[in-house]
Amino acid sequence: MSILKELELDIKKILKQAGYEVERLAMEESNRKDLGEYQLNDAMQLAKTYHDNPRNIAEKIKGELEKDSRFTNINIAGPGFINFSLSNEYIVEILNRMNQDIFNNIDKKAPKKIVIDYGGANVAKALHVGHLRSANIGEALKRLANLLGCKAIGDAHLGDFGRPLGLVIKEIKEEYPDLAYFDPNYEGDYSEIELPITNEDLERIYPLASNKSKEDEAYLEDARDITMKFQSKEKGYYELWKKIVDISKKDIKKIYDSLNTNFEIWNGESDEMEFFAELYKIYEEKGLITESEGAKVIDVSKEDDNAPMPPLMMVKTNGTMSYDSTDLAAILERKVNFNPDEIWYVVDGRQSLHFEQVFRAARKAKLVDDNVELIHIGFGTMNGKDGKPFKTRDGGVMSLENLIELVNIETYKRINNESISEEEKQEISKVVGMAALKYADLLPFRGTDYIFETEKFADLEGKTGPYLLYSTIRMKSLLKKANAKEKNTIIKLKGQVEKDIALTLLNLPTILNKSYETKSLNDIAEYLYKLTSLYNKFYQDNRVLAEEDNELKISWLALTELVYKVNTLLLDTLGIIVPDKM
Ligand code: ARG
Repeated sequence: MSILKELELDIKKILKQAGYEVERLAMEESNRKDLGEYQLNDAMQLAKTYHDNPRNIAEKIKGELEKDSRFTNINIAGPGFINFSLSNEYIVEILNRMNQDIFNNIDKKAPKKIVIDYGGANVAKALHVGHLRSANIGEALKRLANLLGCKAIGDAHLGDFGRPLGLVIKEIKEEYPDLAYFDPNYEGDYSEIELPITNEDLERIYPLASNKSKEDEAYLEDARDITMKFQSKEKGYYELWKKIVDISKKDIKKIYDSLNTNFEIWNGESDEMEFFAELYKIYEEKGLITESEGAKVIDVSKEDDNAPMPPLMMVKTNGTMSYDSTDLAAILERKVNFNPDEIWYVVDGRQSLHFEQVFRAARKAKLVDDNVELIHIGFGTMNGKDGKPFKTRDGGVMSLENLIELVNIETYKRINNESISEEEKQEISKVVGMAALKYADLLPFRGTDYIFETEKFADLEGKTGPYLLYSTIRMKSLLKKANAKEKNTIIKLKGQVEKDIALTLLNLPTILNKSYETKSLNDIAEYLYKLTSLYNKFYQDNRVLAEEDNELKISWLALTELVYKVNTLLLDTLGIIVPDKM
């Protein structure tokens, strides 16, 4: 149990001694630290329950609090607000307990099994900023859930089974019509066919094919036909499809690696579709499938809908599977393979209708038990300065690689450490650039749109990834410079800022919990900035290594170690890597 929880339980007991029972304590950190570090607001509510005047009640509680040496500066304000602070001795004790094991100060959750779907990159297409947001938020939520005691696993859920692949294959067929894949009479071994195509080719081919299909109806028709062929595993097309997926997947893995994003499961929509036949049968047997203009659909509307709810598309008119059916099949697959308590989808908020349809369809056939939670964790867009989704100069979709490059250019300019070689500088600026991008991405509430500003993100001052990295590295090097033996216990403290650091540390479990509840990392990102700034204030006010009072010096080093540990833990939770130097 966290120290704060423990403290709250103790205060509840104290209230009981004063003669009062409360369900939930109304205690909050005060923003007027001079009046007291905490404020207890229970007297007003208790006055109603116990038919007494709140001031009388506050007086009685104050009397009990005074018997406990952990509390100081106890005073009553206004109608019955009780202000109090924590004694220095108690703060020292708290800090030491945290420093022994920071995990002591975390409130664990019930150990839920959670599948998190947060990849969604599309095979044979370049990743874009939407995929970045999904990866950043999803990876961090997974780490947070695991930190809090859940068993969360990530599924890449690659888009590998839809029309884009049909288009790519169509274009390859145009460029290399003689490839054996397209020969229906080919009897040989497909693995022996040389495919003259690299990942770069694929990135060229997809946009080309997509443009052609917009102008040429017959071309599009062919691509649709091809899509149906590989989806139904027709030999040559299916083999070529597999080959393309292979080539592209390797590259996608590399990109996710560079984002410090690791999936436990590398499924694609095609793997989920292995469950399609079973899925279809379930819906058919329950009489839930209807025909609509040649397509097979599931009605998911409800009587009290006040906006039109289109049906879920199971099979499209042309016989191909739809995006809807891939997500529905994925629920069945996850149920069979993992039997999770919750499935989280970290996907662009603009897809909320799609998920509403999928979840309703899943509930209708009871694909999962009613108590299994299906949650769409939607996010906003990263916009350009014009307030519209960020684009390239000519208005196209900005590839993720180019976007990362833009940030790296800025971080490179800001690394001015003479002990770093040019080669190292290149490497470090990539790590710092990723931190800049990730932190900026996780700082706003996930549902909010935000503006892409490389200079601001890369700044060494302010609420930025580089500021946090720089400060954290400085803590580490301070600890390194000090004698290692000297940094275990906090014996005493000197100023208010150290106490403020302690109170902030005390609040860590509340922040973790809040982030978990809102499924947004903004509170953790803000907290990191608050803790780091407080520490930096302390660092500026005091010369730790030059301090002559040895007990104070030892205490300060231990405090530094504690903040360093919390910072690295939280940065790691956000998926941010701390370089050795910068
Ligand atoms: N591949 C999709 C896209 O790029 C995203 C997939 C999101 N995940 C999901 N389960 N539908 O738009």
